[in-house]
Amino acid sequence: MLSYRHGFHAGNPADVFKHAVVIALVRALQEKPRGIQFVDTHAGPALYDLGSAMAQKNREHEAGIARWWSTATSDPMMAPYLELVRGFNPDGELRHYPGSPMIFKSLLRSNDRLVLCELHPAEQQALLSRFAGDRQVSIRCGSGYAEMPRVLPPPGGRGLVLIDPPWELKSEREDLTMALESALKRYAHGVYALWYPLIEGRELALERIPQRLGLDGEAWLDLRVEFAPAQRLGRMYGCGMALVNCPYRVRQALVDWHAAFTGLPPAET
Ligand SMILES: C[S@@+](CC[C@H](N)C(=O)[O-])C[C@H]1O[C@@H](n2cnc3c(N)ncnc32)[C@H](O)[C@@H]1O
Repeated sequence: MLSYRHGFHAGNPADVFKHAVVIALVRALQEKPRGIQFVDTHAGPALYDLGSAMAQKNREHEAGIARWWSTATSDPMMAPYLELVRGFNPDGELRHYPGSPMIFKSLLRSNDRLVLCELHPAEQQALLSRFAGDRQVSIRCGSGYAEMPRVLPPPGGRGLVLIDPPWELKSEREDLTMALESALKRYAHGVYALWYPLIEGRELALERIPQRLGLDGEAWLDLRVEFAPAQRLGRMYGCGMALVNCPYRVRQALVDWHAAFTGLPPAET
């Protein structure tokens, strides 16, 4: 039974962090001209209307993208992220929020391609209609864990996989570890970005993953952030992105940037 809908959470502080990291990774990989395959194992419906009933229920974007909306920043991670989100709101009013499929899509070059996996029927439908006829995008209606190894290695040898589960099921860590293990067997030098929440009273024990998969401190980079108190979402006090094979071009910049991230623009922290 799939109950999670990202429409209730779009644009929250966790999305801000995750999407800024994704953009930095894409841009670092695109410094080389050869085409890249991006895989989004848990895609969601791609574009969110922040005025919709779903988004308005808890108004999580108010603690996230809305706090940054009017900020002029030269921050190397936040400036490209804000520019991309602003591109979806050309009249200057924050209304539309791009999810990861739309973020990838916006950044595709003519020789890149995008694979989107999604399990929820309503979100599958949204993806199928949004990307109908788009030859750079393929949609796989099934579990991202089963699909990920099937689309690896990427045809041209270069790829980034975003793994962004809802973390609803008790089996999530085990499912993910097994899928990552099988993906790494097929594509050992791929870049993988795994998002996870930090929730009071719930220990995900993700540090077991690199141990089990034999990934050392070079291959496994865990970027964990805690939100400022006003940015917390119920019991969720922060989140993280664990990166496998982070491109060296952006590694140090991400390490430095995440250490200062609170979910708020610097003047407000
Ligand atoms: C956190 S949301 C994704 C948000 C999106 N990646 C973004 O950043 O905009 C998780 C999505 O995964 C979907 N989902 C849940 N289990 C899945 C599975 N095993 N395989 C693929 N999609 C799944 C849910 O329906 C939901 O749309």
